[in-house]
Amino acid sequence: MVDEYIYGTVSRICPEAPVAVLKAMKKHLLPGGAANVACLLTCLSLPTRIMGCLHSNDYPGKFLQGFLNKSGVEQLCINYPAGETIVKQRLMSQNQMLLRIDYENCQNLGDSLSQQAMAYLSQVENDTSLIILSDYAKGFLSDQLVTNIIAWSRNRGISVVVDPKGNDYTKYLGATLLTPNRNEVALAVGKRINNLEELVEAGYQLLKRTENQALIITNGAEGVLVLERDGVFYHLPALSCSHPNVIGAGDAFIAGLTLGISSEAGLLEAACLGIYTAGLAVRKTVSRYPLLSEIVYLLKTQPFTIKQYFKVI
Ligand SMILES: Nc1ncnc2c1ncn2[C@@H]1O[C@H](COP(=O)(O)OP(=O)(O)OP(=O)(O)O)[C@@H](O)[C@H]1O
Ligand SMILES: [Mg+2]
Repeated sequence: MVDEYIYGTVSRICPEAPVAVLKAMKKHLLPGGAANVACLLTCLSLPTRIMGCLHSNDYPGKFLQGFLNKSGVEQLCINYPAGETIVKQRLMSQNQMLLRIDYENCQNLGDSLSQQAMAYLSQVENDTSLIILSDYAKGFLSDQLVTNIIAWSRNRGISVVVDPKGNDYTKYLGATLLTPNRNEVALAVGKRINNLEELVEAGYQLLKRTENQALIITNGAEGVLVLERDGVFYHLPALSCSHPNVIGAGDAFIAGLTLGISSEAGLLEAACLGIYTAGLAVRKTVSRYPLLSEIVYLLKTQPFTIKQYFKVI
C-alpha cells in the first residue's frame, strides 16, 4: 500500500461545482500499511523482512520496491502483476487534508498465494524471532493464512504481534499479543464506545475471547490501555502534540512495541516504547520515521507516568 500526498494551494472555488480548486504544487509518496511498519522497524535498527503481495508493474509498486530496498527491508514479496498497488491519495493544502481518494480493489488473493507465503516463511525460519501481522484486510492476509502463520509460529516458539481488523478474532487465537485501536475494539464487540469506562468494558470482553494474558488498546491522543486478564489495567498517556500528523500512528506504535518485545522488555515498558515511537511519528510533518536515537533521548529526558487501575471481572 502506498500513501500519496498531493500538496497545493486553494484560492478559488470551482465554477463548475461548489468545490475548492487545489492548485497542485508537488507530489510525495511514502510506503503505507505493512510497508510503513517495516520501514519504521528498520529506522529503529531492527533487521526486518516484509512479506506480502507486490504489483511491480505499476508506478506505486515500483516506488514501494525501491523505497523498501533503500530502507534495508528485505522483501519476500509475491509478485502479482495482474493487480494494482493500493494507493491512498490525500489532497493537502496548508497542512489540512481536503480529500482522500482510495485506489483499491481488494479481493481475497487465493490459496496458491497463501501456500507460496508459507513456503517463503519456511526459508527464513532460522532467523525469525518475531512476526507482525499488520492486518489491513486488503486481501493478502486471508483468514486461513492468518491461522496458518500463527500455528506455524507457535510450533517454533516465534512471537506473533497482531494489528487486527474486522469482527472475527477467532483467526487470531494463539497470537502473542493484539493491538486493536478504539474503533477496532468497538467493531469486534459490536458496540458503540462513548467513554473510557465503556472502552475498558469492551476491551475485557475482547480479552476474554482470546487466549492472551493481556490486550493493548491504542486510543489516539488519549494514549494506550494495557488490560491484564486478572482485572489490573494501566493507562499510558500519549506524548502531547499540538499539530499531530496521525497518519500511520498505529503503525509507529506497533513498531516501537516490537522494539521493546524483541529487547525482552516487560509489556508495560514495551508499550512505553510504542508510545514514544508513535509520539515522535505524529510530531513529524513530512518524514514519519523516528530514529532510535530520538527514542533514547526521550527515555532519558521525558518522565512517564503510568496509572494503574483495577476492574472487578
Ligand atoms: N493526536 C495524537 N496526539 C498524540 N499522540 C497520538 C495522537 N494520535 C495517535 N497518537 C499516538 O499513536 C498511538 C496510536 O494511535 P491510534 O490509536 O490512533 O492508532 P490507529 O488508529 O491504529 O492508527 P492508524 O491510523 O495508523 O491505524 C496512540 O496510542 C498515541 O500514542
Ligand atoms: Mg491502526
